[in-house]
Amino acid sequence: MSLSDLERLFGLRGKVALVTGASSGLGKEFARGLAMAGADVAVVARRLERLQAVAAELEAFGVRAYSVQADLQHEEQIEAAVREVHDVLGPIDILVNNAGIAPVGRAERHDLEKWQQALDVNLTAVFLCCQHVGRRMIERGQGGRIINISSVLGEGANSVHRTVGYAATKGAVTNLTRQLAVEWAAHGITVNALAPSWFPTEMITDPRLGRVHDEQRTRMEQFTPLGRLGREGELLGAIIYLASPAASYVTGTVLHVDGGWRAW
Ligand SMILES: NC(=O)c1ccc[n+]([C@@H]2O[C@H](COP(=O)([O-])OP(=O)(O)OC[C@H]3O[C@@H](n4cnc5c(N)ncnc54)[C@H](OP(=O)(O)O)[C@@H]3O)[C@@H](O)[C@H]2O)c1
Repeated sequence: MSLSDLERLFGLRGKVALVTGASSGLGKEFARGLAMAGADVAVVARRLERLQAVAAELEAFGVRAYSVQADLQHEEQIEAAVREVHDVLGPIDILVNNAGIAPVGRAERHDLEKWQQALDVNLTAVFLCCQHVGRRMIERGQGGRIINISSVLGEGANSVHRTVGYAATKGAVTNLTRQLAVEWAAHGITVNALAPSWFPTEMITDPRLGRVHDEQRTRMEQFTPLGRLGREGELLGAIIYLASPAASYVTGTVLHVDGGWRAW
């Protein structure tokens, strides 16, 4: 297989991608993967300085990168961000709904405010981003790719942290993905979910320790057949694949990148 065959399968040159929650963690890696494959990438989150640093790294791949500050809990900010990306980089071909939060608290006492925040960021914002970008994709008539970042906890309980709202929203994101895949297949838009297990980002870091809590790490490792957490770079292949021409016949699916967590 030649390099140009690989480029035809996995290359994203000329495509425009929008990645939410790219100011840290997995979102940064997804943005990097898409830029590596040649896409121009817009990064969206609340912390603008961090986004600007990410965008500068992306430009090193020879692509255009653009940062937009937005709080995805507000529909008007989602709409404005999508419009801005469209105006600056052009029509969006690839949407990665990655932004997420995982409020912690025992189910029987889970604060309604935390529950609502999880719903707003992890589910409603995903739906609204799909809607605002999806409408434009449908109007343009050239298809598109939507990749929703769910979790292995979209299909099973969290046995490590008490995150009832998170588990509920990730289950919903997985099924939202299937519904949109079916409704938008006629428009050539594929909609898939990527479901990671444990990766040591800010989300699973104990703020008091500045790292993953030892006991929790042991639990994560014990129930992962590969016996460890995910490492930086181990999601690059999955995001490039789902966004690429190689995945043109893949829709409504959940791709687990989880060291075997869901295998048993
Ligand atoms: N780490 C894991 O083990 C793991 C496993 C499975 C799935 N996931 C999923 O992967 C995704 C990324 O998580 P992560 O681990 O990379 O966590 P992270 O480092 O905490 O990143 C979360 C991102 O979401 C953004 N965000 C949060 N609230 C937002 C809001 N209201 N508006 C805009 N952006 C917002 C944050 O940016 P700002 O704070 O700058 O707004 C940040 O960039 C999430 O959907 C998570 O559920 C993570």
